[in-house]
Amino acid sequence: RLVDHHSALKIDTPCSGLQELRFIDFACTCIELISVPKLREIWCWSWPCESPPVHFGHVPQLLEVNLGSRAGVWQAPFALSECLSATNLSRLYLNFGCEMIWIQPEHPKHLTTIFRNLTEVYLYYIFPECDLNWTMFLVEAAPALLNFTLLRNQHPCVKPSAHSAQKTNMLWEPSKDWKHLNLKLLVMAGFEEEDKVTNYLRLFMERAVGLKRIELRGKHPCDKCNAMDLELESTRSLVDKASRYRIKERLTHEFSLSVKITIC
Ligand SMILES: *[C@@H]1O[C@H](CO)[C@@H](O)[C@H](O)[C@H]1NC(C)=O
Ligand SMILES: *[C@@H]1O[C@H](CO)[C@@H](O)[C@H](O)[C@H]1NC(C)=O
Ligand SMILES: *[C@@H]1O[C@H](CO)[C@@H](O)[C@H](O)[C@H]1NC(C)=O
Ligand SMILES: *[C@@H]1O[C@H](CO)[C@@H](O)[C@H](O)[C@H]1NC(C)=O
Repeated sequence: RLVDHHSALKIDTPCSGLQELRFIDFACTCIELISVPKLREIWCWSWPCESPPVHFGHVPQLLEVNLGSRAGVWQAPFALSECLSATNLSRLYLNFGCEMIWIQPEHPKHLTTIFRNLTEVYLYYIFPECDLNWTMFLVEAAPALLNFTLLRNQHPCVKPSAHSAQKTNMLWEPSKDWKHLNLKLLVMAGFEEEDKVTNYLRLFMERAVGLKRIELRGKHPCDKCNAMDLELESTRSLVDKASRYRIKERLTHEFSLSVKITIC
């Protein structure tokens, strides 16, 4: 309510000590951070804008960006390089709410300056049918990356909204011969499709040659739907765990394992 729906919220505070900003369920065309010199962390959750929800001006101390939204029909994917230009991040969190992926894969060279110090990436709630190869463009663009986390975790109690954008599969072929040297840890949580996960891990292990550990985790329990059928949920979780062990076995056969795979 600081501005009307048709204008941008502009923040120009060159002398402020503001370190964190959180925008949740806001209603304006976008947020323009003109000058917020001490800002370290920003969250933008659930935006109505057609294009990137936030524009970064002078934010030299910014370390962490956390964007999360379930895209509506009026929204189109945007390039991260367009949104994050002139930043220098350490941590990036993107949450797609099991709806359309609202970022556009792009050539890693557009992101390498922005991602030169990026060490952690967290991708949450990628919709189940989506192929995962596209996530590699983020890894390729971030040579200092140490750990990469993908979480799916869809629960039956979360229903799609009537205004959701159409979910399209993301297609992306990683560059030929490219290797990542620094990435140490890959975490995948809540994924159920055995073949899809195995293929993705195969690709990942071929490319991330410094990888030390892969953690395959189950779903987080959910208070709402688990309370409805505890017995079914516990059977499912055993089935899912067996599938994670099979994935481990398949990969162990193929790769001389310098990578430790832990199941939890
Ligand atoms: C980028 O971020 C890193 C790590 O936070 C910091 O050491 C470095 O000085 C920053 N570089 C610039 C140009 O701001
Ligand atoms: C940030 O990246 C620059 C350029 O790649 C590098 O020289 C510097 O050591 C990095 N800083 C940190 C804290 O990783
Ligand atoms: C990911 O890497 C950072 C170092 O940048 C570390 O502090 C953090 O604990 C790591 N996360 C996990 C889950 O190991
Ligand atoms: C993902 O990438 C791998 C390696 O380039 C390729 O073999 C595979 O076909 C790709 N998957 C899809 C669904 O395009």
